[in-house]
Amino acid sequence: MKIVITGGAGFIGGNFVHYMIKAHPEYEIIVLDKLTYAGNLETLASVMDKIKFVKDDIADRNAVFKLFEEEKPDVVVNFAAESHVDRSIEDPGIFLKTNVIGTQTLMDACREYGIRRYHQVSTDEVYGDLPLDRPDLFFTEETPLHTSSPYSASKASADLLVQAYYRTYNLPVTISRCSNNYGPYHFPEKLIPLMIANALADKPLPVYGKGENVRDWLYVEDHCKAIDLIIHKGKVGEVYNIGGHNEMRNIDIVKLICRELGKPESLITYVTDRKGHDLRYAINPEKIHNELGWLPETTFENGIKKTIEWYLNNRSWWEPIISGEYMDYYEKMYGNR
Ligand code: NAD
Ligand code: DAU
Repeated sequence: MKIVITGGAGFIGGNFVHYMIKAHPEYEIIVLDKLTYAGNLETLASVMDKIKFVKDDIADRNAVFKLFEEEKPDVVVNFAAESHVDRSIEDPGIFLKTNVIGTQTLMDACREYGIRRYHQVSTDEVYGDLPLDRPDLFFTEETPLHTSSPYSASKASADLLVQAYYRTYNLPVTISRCSNNYGPYHFPEKLIPLMIANALADKPLPVYGKGENVRDWLYVEDHCKAIDLIIHKGKVGEVYNIGGHNEMRNIDIVKLICRELGKPESLITYVTDRKGHDLRYAINPEKIHNELGWLPETTFENGIKKTIEWYLNNRSWWEPIISGEYMDYYEKMYGNR
């Protein structure tokens, strides 16, 4: 089995590469990644001898077709994306290029050279948000797409294109829509690693609005297991929601990180809210549980402890990231907020 993992130098893609090497040591793994600001070869350093790494853009038709012609993969799992909502609000263009045109380019190559499965890694953000005062409501696979940010609009566009390629060309596709992930190798522009890094440096902890927005957190390895199941046992043409019923308010997460690190809550600083900020995400994971037997294995209590410990023990992975270019980004986004 030859599998192309796009975005494999990023957070979830990187974890998936490590997971697949352990779960299926006999598979041939090819990572296709452009190495944007979010891609980090250090994430793959310990497994470079077990994979083939190709630095290219999923939206570059010549590069993608050349790779497929040479490798003729059996499976493609597409993690490659611009993934940060705040960046999409500042500059949507690259989100459309990578997330939409990139997806189209990969699927065109799959059509041209043949594929056993194309899997699109999507997000619960395609469903928009749920009200805070209706804890009885959850996203199911039938919830209409209703996006809020340029990021989520680009991901929903890609999902529609994937479904169109299934219906029109019979491309053997699956789509997964997962809730917020956390764990090792998470780029420190996102809530949990940003708060850990700032707290360790005794810097302000910038909470958007009142911190009451709710996210449904899943340990990244549980997401990887779900995708492994879907590509092997999932039904072609289907969408699978992935989530572990672990809803938390942002402010409670930030306070928990303070407690775990022995830092004072006085570091918490309320800043101007994100534009169009989604209130609550909450996944109903019954379909993947009933059809494929998936259940999350890591509780938030354990997962957040493991994650904090990983950031404490792997400063050499994240400290270089938060110097240089990242500082310019941080100043732009948080300087006058
Ligand atoms: P990330 O930003 O950490 O990593 C993205 C990776 O894609 C990087 O390695 C980057 O270099 C690469 N990449 C970007 N543009 C590329 C291009 N044009 N060609 C090739 N490679 C390119 O993202 P992540 O958080 O790991 O998310 C991975 C996928 O999972 C995304 O599709 C995202 O929408 C989805 N997702 C993320 C979450 C989450 O909580 N992080 C939850 C659900 C779904
Ligand atoms: O739900 C899945 C999505 O989760 C993925 O599709 C996205 O790729 C991923 O980035 C993530 O999106 P969010 O916008 O939910 O994640 P983020 O870590 O950026 O923010 C989580 C919450 O924390 C959100 O309500 C905004 C808030 N926040 C974030 C940052 C970076 C803050 O309050 N302060 C911050 O500095």
